[in-house]
Amino acid sequence: MIIAPKIRGFICTTAHPEGCAANVRAQIDYVKSRGPLADPPKNVLVIGASTGYGLASRIVPAFGGGAATIGVFFEKPGVENKTGSAGWYNSVAFEEAASEAGLYAKSFNGDAFSKEVKEAVIAAIKADLGQVDSIVYSLASPRRTDPATGEVYKSVLKPIGGSYSQKNLNTDTAEVNSVSIDPASEEEIAHTVKVMGGEDWELWIEALASAGALADGFTTVAYSYIGPDLTYPIYTNGTIGRAKEHLEQSAVRINSRFGAGSAYVSVNKALVTQASSAIPVVPLYISLLYKVMKEADLHEGCIEQIQRLFAEHLASGGAPVLDEKGRIRIDDWEMRPDIQAAVASAWHTVTTENLSAISDFSGYRKEFLRLFGFGLEGVDYEADTNPEVSLPSEK
Ligand code: NAI
Repeated sequence: MIIAPKIRGFICTTAHPEGCAANVRAQIDYVKSRGPLADPPKNVLVIGASTGYGLASRIVPAFGGGAATIGVFFEKPGVENKTGSAGWYNSVAFEEAASEAGLYAKSFNGDAFSKEVKEAVIAAIKADLGQVDSIVYSLASPRRTDPATGEVYKSVLKPIGGSYSQKNLNTDTAEVNSVSIDPASEEEIAHTVKVMGGEDWELWIEALASAGALADGFTTVAYSYIGPDLTYPIYTNGTIGRAKEHLEQSAVRINSRFGAGSAYVSVNKALVTQASSAIPVVPLYISLLYKVMKEADLHEGCIEQIQRLFAEHLASGGAPVLDEKGRIRIDDWEMRPDIQAAVASAWHTVTTENLSAISDFSGYRKEFLRLFGFGLEGVDYEADTNPEVSLPSEK
């Protein structure tokens, strides 16, 4: 079939297998161009491994350090006349490249929150690798079924304590308008913490430990975001920020159980991913931020961010550099005072009329389409393409 983008609000419902593969290959080439990691992990489990930060976290240790990787994700395979999700095609392309390079790679497509998926993953670790020495937790999910009670929790992106009104960008129409969001109820806050907090991260580490699948001196990392004052009410001080606070407390608990230096939270840069495009206000902030960071020659995507995370912190041969709250900060360039001052000044003046002049909305759009495998050089989008491709490890 001929595969073209079909955008519905902040999601694209189609994905291009060849385009996603080109995207994965470009990330692999970037990692190879940076040279080997000084002290890479050997066996890596990535939970949320198919897109965004998690995909990059699978590519970096594999192609920068020769690591065996197991990836867990929740994606849709393509069928005869319907495309699969981008994360499915990314994972197929990753496994193909890993196999060509002689690297072990196995993937699990299922609900990472469930007991069944944890058990299947742990059985594969025990059978194939013995133990893992690095676990990356990079899930972004709108809901979670509690494995103990069967109750379904849904996360919301809302402020806490009062409503929040701010400029916003309609990414379909390129209009700068405003949005007003009512505060979350106590129940919504608790639900968001259940979904996006660290409870499931801790359950994974406990399950791995009790099966004897954690190597001595293992490290685990989960991702967080802080960002500027203007998004504080919807992010850092909102429901998702509460969940990220819980994630930080989970790191403290894992460290007290397994020893200091076992668990880290890394604060990453705001980037276009499927998860971030769903957050109100954030796409406008990202469009302005990209313009400023590209002009300052400081722009990074997921792969550059995670390359830096491993090369300078997790696989450098030394201890990671931490902030006063014990977190790794690869959002350091985003948060530089000169960058933030330039973004804040553009924020005050941005309107529909000057959007394309003072922001990088065209870059935002291109990158959004690239997430789904569209707009990549060397891909023939007019060609008849088979949407049904399978994971090499499942053949
Ligand atoms: P993403 O949407 O690109 O990736 C989410 C991943 O989770 C995918 O692999 C997906 O298949 C997987 N997933 C979702 N539900 C699942 C389930 N039930 N079972 C198994 N897998 C499931 O998201 P992104 O942006 O890479 O986010 C990853 C983490 O990074 C999140 O914790 C997010 O808060 C954090 N982060 C994101 C930033 C951004 O600007 N995108 C900035 C800083 C942190």
